[in-house]
Amino acid sequence: MTTSAKTRIKRFTPMQRLFHLTLMLTFLIQSATGLARMYHETGWGQGLANLFGGFSGALTIHIAVGIFMVCAFVVHLAYAIFLLSRRGMVAGLRGPDSLIPGPGDIREFISHLRWILGLSAHPPLDRWGYWEKFDYWAVFWGMIILGGTGLLLATPLASSQVIPGWGLNVAFWVHRIEAILAMAHIFIIHFFVVHLRRSHFPMDSAMFDGSTDLETARNERSAWVDRLTASGELGTRLTVAPPAHKKIIHLITGLGAVAIGLFLLVGSLMHATRITW
Ligand code: HEM
Repeated sequence: MTTSAKTRIKRFTPMQRLFHLTLMLTFLIQSATGLARMYHETGWGQGLANLFGGFSGALTIHIAVGIFMVCAFVVHLAYAIFLLSRRGMVAGLRGPDSLIPGPGDIREFISHLRWILGLSAHPPLDRWGYWEKFDYWAVFWGMIILGGTGLLLATPLASSQVIPGWGLNVAFWVHRIEAILAMAHIFIIHFFVVHLRRSHFPMDSAMFDGSTDLETARNERSAWVDRLTASGELGTRLTVAPPAHKKIIHLITGLGAVAIGLFLLVGSLMHATRITW
């Protein structure tokens, strides 16, 4: 087969990929700098902090990147509102490309479980699986919770003019618990579901090169491919595989991120008994 054969289907726009890359990089920095502070009593946490110039360096970077993350989230919201106004509220929120969950996702979840247990055929997924919608909204609310509590903690004097002192203790615990949940979800569930699936192992590069293999999409997301075929849109979405050098860059970036995440996960678990709660 020649490299110019259109064997792939476009899945993510450059803007979506940029948002994902920004989130991926900032999330890894926040996880590493946050864990360096959380594990300050351990050699592992101290080693991690040294990478960022010590404990105060880790805090400065955590706050600066945190503020950047909050700004990026506001840009994302503005972009989502812009898309909704262009597509129309009903099509944007209720159409098949929407990330808003509906009753169909519960049915899909049940039939997907049945498929995992070998009891039925693979459900005909459309563009987004139920777990992808869950991922999106988990990050969405996570950003509001981590961003809100993070900003309160970053400016304690100003915050205590508005909320009582004990409110900062609550904010700290909410921030800590949500950060642990978010890191556990990304480093265990997200990595496993996206990259360790048989059809995508060792890495699903769709979020990096923007496209996915058409045959795999036919098997996993038949409702999506059928819908695009019926509307005549499929032809415009077909594309060629990225050149080898880009594939290598995507592989190194993606697997590098997975390796950093797993390093943080294993280190956190190994030293968990030594954190002061
Ligand atoms: C994905 C996002 C984030 C993750 C995973 C994360 C993680 C963490 C962790 C693990 C801690 C240490 C908690 C502890 O010592 O028990 C922490 C503390 C903190 N975070 Fe975040 N965080 C995130 C986003 C943010 C944002 C958006 C801000 C906003 C500026 C922020 C500001 C802070 C502040 C001020 C602290 C207290 C640091 C200290 O005094 O030790 N964080 N974060």
